[in-house]
Amino acid sequence: MTWTEGYISDVGFPAFFYKEMQPVWLSTVAGFLGSGAPDAGKAFSLCELGCGAGVNLLVAAACHPDAQFVGVDFNAEHLRLAREAAQACGIANVEFIHSDFAQFARGNDRSFDFITCHGVWSWIAAPLKAVLLECASRSLKPGGLLYLHYMCHPGSTELLPLQHVLNLCAHHLPGPSTRKVQTGMKLLQQIAASGLFADKPAMARHLANMARRAPADLAHEFLTDHWQPEHSVEVHQAAARSGLTFLGSADVFNNLDPSLSIPGNMQELIGRTAAPALAETLKDLARDAHQRMDLFQKDPAALSEAAFIAALREARFRLLPDAPLRGPVTFATPIGSVTGPETIFTPLLERLSRGAATGAELLELPVFRGDVGALLQALQLLMMQQLAHPMGPEAEGTAERGRSLSDWFGRNDTALDIAADCATAVSRTVHRA
Ligand SMILES: C[S@@+](CC[C@H](N)C(=O)[O-])C[C@H]1O[C@@H](n2cnc3c(N)ncnc32)[C@H](O)[C@@H]1O
Repeated sequence: MTWTEGYISDVGFPAFFYKEMQPVWLSTVAGFLGSGAPDAGKAFSLCELGCGAGVNLLVAAACHPDAQFVGVDFNAEHLRLAREAAQACGIANVEFIHSDFAQFARGNDRSFDFITCHGVWSWIAAPLKAVLLECASRSLKPGGLLYLHYMCHPGSTELLPLQHVLNLCAHHLPGPSTRKVQTGMKLLQQIAASGLFADKPAMARHLANMARRAPADLAHEFLTDHWQPEHSVEVHQAAARSGLTFLGSADVFNNLDPSLSIPGNMQELIGRTAAPALAETLKDLARDAHQRMDLFQKDPAALSEAAFIAALREARFRLLPDAPLRGPVTFATPIGSVTGPETIFTPLLERLSRGAATGAELLELPVFRGDVGALLQALQLLMMQQLAHPMGPEAEGTAERGRSLSDWFGRNDTALDIAADCATAVSRTVHRA
């Protein structure tokens, strides 16, 4: 097995797509949070640190031909696959740089509107985290956005002993990483069968979830040396020390009104908590959050109320293939099912099923009567569940490149369809279910 700064590199990381990493989504959500964000409809630049085989960059580059994309990764095989896909699909506006973060940070003199980093932060050593934040802060343009994904307390706390066992297996067992992780899982399952986790239901639950994942995925997640969940507030403070301000979450569930996103018995207490850091921590506790997709901004500029409403009125939204045609709609959220009432969702879905609509058009529906807050909650619930999406820029050739990339993904065991007009992708298994 090859170790690279405590990270494994002898097995490929499976392809995962995250709608929350795409520029249209990031700009829209930052706008919903009241911040002026880079315009994903114009020429912009985006860098992904730890891009793996480039799935998220390839989708973005196919859908934004006027923008420039850079992916950085030290796994040469991941980059070979990413470059092959770009070439096969005629995607020329993405560059994959074979480098570790420290070397990239030292040499980089480009600036970016967006920097994204998923599946990396919680797996690297503390000094490298500081390098990563410093690099993001220096390389972002004023107003630029950092998307940072990480594992957090309290939901991931009880994964720590399981990860520790798997990491020791990585160091002391022979063979490739996939074999080590499979042997390590057998050992953990034996321990569970002996009743050791009987009074630790969270550990037993984590282990059952892990058993459903592919060995390559488990190897990347758990064999590494530095795996460590954190309290979200500590990550926010570290980012602030580097000059990056926490805006909110790219996972819109977390930004919903507490009446929808916090269990009922905690709403009042959190509502009364004035200190933002304490409130954020209580929310993580109430939601048993295990990972976060946070948004940070360099030199944030809060939108005036007029600019906020103007941006929402101008934005266009459309339904995605799985959307129902009427309410009520049941949303699966991390705190359980939330039912979106028929009175709100039937008129909204009926309007959107006739075609894309601007925020201004949706605000005219009698059910909203200009109520911006109610429209935002409903749209974010639909976006969260991949039922609706903001529209992307219109650019020549995106549909063709999108089809070509969907076909390439299909030939490479990745069931993703590009929705070029929304500058995103939709999981084939989801929308054909
Ligand atoms: C779990 S994968 C995530 C890939 C992609 N971001 C995603 O979410 O699908 C982490 C990636 O970060 C890369 N990586 C980890 N540490 C790195 C470092 N110090 N420098 C460059 N790349 C690194 C790994 O090679 C791997 O491709």
